[in-house]
Amino acid sequence: MGKEEEYVSPKPFLKWAGGKSKLLHKLRPLVPSKYDHYIEPFVGGGALFFCLCPHDAILSDLNSELMNCYRVVRDKPEELIRFLGSMSITKESFYAMRMQNPTNLSDVERAARLIYLNKTCYNGLYRVNKKGQFNTPFGQYRLVKLYNPPQIHAASTALQGVMLLELDFEPLLLSYAHSRDFVYLDPPYPPVGRWSDFKRYTKEFFTEKDHIRLAKVVEELDNRGCKFILSNAMHPLILKLYAKFGKIDVEAPRYINCRAGKRGNVSELLITNIECYEGTPLPTHQIHGKQTDLTTIHIQ
Ligand SMILES: C[S@@+](CC[C@H](N)C(=O)[O-])C[C@H]1O[C@@H](n2cnc3c(N)ncnc32)[C@H](O)[C@@H]1O
Repeated sequence: MGKEEEYVSPKPFLKWAGGKSKLLHKLRPLVPSKYDHYIEPFVGGGALFFCLCPHDAILSDLNSELMNCYRVVRDKPEELIRFLGSMSITKESFYAMRMQNPTNLSDVERAARLIYLNKTCYNGLYRVNKKGQFNTPFGQYRLVKLYNPPQIHAASTALQGVMLLELDFEPLLLSYAHSRDFVYLDPPYPPVGRWSDFKRYTKEFFTEKDHIRLAKVVEELDNRGCKFILSNAMHPLILKLYAKFGKIDVEAPRYINCRAGKRGNVSELLITNIECYEGTPLPTHQIHGKQTDLTTIHIQ
């Protein structure tokens, strides 16, 4: 970092659909004060990671463009900034960039391409077709700031020493999570309502089977003595899969209408085996014969 550069606190360098920046004030008080490793298997934009900046961390996501971008921000921030500085924002260059095959590019070019497409595409929504090609249209933004050098340097500093992987959540957690680790899980949500489309992050959709597979892995984390927080939708399948764990029902801001770009609040769940939320005990076992949401407390 240049001497004249202002200090900024680290935060996500990408806009990521489902990003948790707006929920941090509700998530932060739940995080244990001590743990061995911080593990985030669906890192996306990494809002909670950048808020906590833990020393021993493992971040992973199945999206290889995203994880390449994290590696470049960690290891080659100057090269990345230089490359971003050479890019022009026009509709034509957006579509030319979108057509490129990232596997033909260097790691720095790939990272710059992802940041460029992410900042200039419609709603910052990373979406790919069945062939794995980025297919979100141009966003028509008048004033786009592609990057902010102090922000990239701050993210790079936070990522020093962090293990970055590109694995499915199951092998990742079964291999790396141990007793006394803290795991934050923010998987794609099952669709709730007409405009929810959280299935298309990667060319593999996150199906009901994946949610069932994830619930088994979460059970294993609990058995191993890890503490976890899982964000998810208020959905009957999710309430059933995690019936035995504590739940906090939070209001999260979301786009509710794509065409009008209107925002609204939707109910989301924080599911956890942590016993207390700011002094309020979280019941961790379902009471037989009663509704599962008896284990839920509501936080405004
Ligand atoms: C809701 S986003 C995470 C948002 C993130 N917490 C943030 O603040 O930006 C879900 C992420 O899960 C990733 N993903 C989807 N299927 C996966 C899988 N089977 N294993 C690991 N990651 C996966 C997607 O690529 C996406 O980045």
